[in-house]
Amino acid sequence: MADVAVVGPLRDSFGRVHNNLRISVTDRCNLRCTYCMPEEVRFLDKGELLTFEEIIQFVRIAVSLGIDKVRLTGGEPLLRRDLPRLVAMLAAIPGIQDVGLTTNGLLLAQYAQALYDAGLRRINVSLDTLDPEQFRRLTRRDGLDQVVAGIHAACRAGFSPVKINAVSIRGVTEHEVVPLARFARRFGCEMRFIEYMPIGADHWERGKVYFAHEILEQLEREIAPLVPVDDYDPRAPAMEFRYVDGGGRVGIIASVSRPFCHSCNRLRLTAEGKLRNCLFALTEVDVKPLLRGGGPAEQIAALIRRCVWDKWEGHEINTARFIKPLRTMHAIGG
Ligand code: 5AD
Ligand code: SF4
Repeated sequence: MADVAVVGPLRDSFGRVHNNLRISVTDRCNLRCTYCMPEEVRFLDKGELLTFEEIIQFVRIAVSLGIDKVRLTGGEPLLRRDLPRLVAMLAAIPGIQDVGLTTNGLLLAQYAQALYDAGLRRINVSLDTLDPEQFRRLTRRDGLDQVVAGIHAACRAGFSPVKINAVSIRGVTEHEVVPLARFARRFGCEMRFIEYMPIGADHWERGKVYFAHEILEQLEREIAPLVPVDDYDPRAPAMEFRYVDGGGRVGIIASVSRPFCHSCNRLRLTAEGKLRNCLFALTEVDVKPLLRGGGPAEQIAALIRRCVWDKWEGHEINTARFIKPLRTMHAIGG
């Protein structure tokens, strides 16, 4: 049987080449979205988090193996002090083509310009509703106005497009689809709907997912017909459409009804330095001891190669074999 290569691109045993690294910079969050985390959580101590220098050391090694895209996630990444400094450090690494950020937007008005100036170009803001009451129910906190202000600030700072991500849960967010899509159209943002996945604290069942085809039907019925975009990439996680009336784009991430594991190119680093080859992985590789202990780059590279190589064929959300990981989303990084 073939075994993990020691040279060449970062490949798993199914031939998938990995170039995309998602880095969680904190497990803390200033919201408590019910689909993501429980109300009471014990967060990591500060000393457990990878330092910026450790993250950069890791990324340099990952880049030498073919990683060229990184995205910062959380918890809520803007809670990590000095995040624009990390963005600038990442953007300066030769070989990094693209630095992105996924944020809940609460602190974005404050940081949008500094992030842009540091070299960030791609930004996704999570927003599931435009109704303040519903926002409070879903996130267990207030803050809708701040998130909306954050989106405006990101547009003003020059991010284009700003993408807005909404989780799609039957009976909970299905009434938000049209108002959110209209809001995004008005401000030139791309609205993206993500099928609800079994990764949060709440009990998940397939019946709770408001599916991609239902979202599309609703949008076409109530807003305007949609067609696949010209640069439609069937391998990308988001299925991308545009309104025929010229009103912008919509993305749908059909993680449950149309899994995209066969073309997955992602690897995840948690805030405390655990490497995960899948959102739903049940095992992880601890790289912090090597990073902190000044371990040789070759040894860290070998761990990364092994972790990617061991990736399974895909999540099994749609089967009875599915086992929910112990970590909830905030502790993995979306
Ligand atoms: N299913 C789908 N998406 C989720 N997110 C968090 N929990 C879930 C879930 N159970 C999304 C957030 C955010 C990103 C970090 O992950 O809405 O957009
Ligand atoms: Fe925080 Fe994001 Fe989880 Fe909501 S989805 S609780 S904003 S980490």
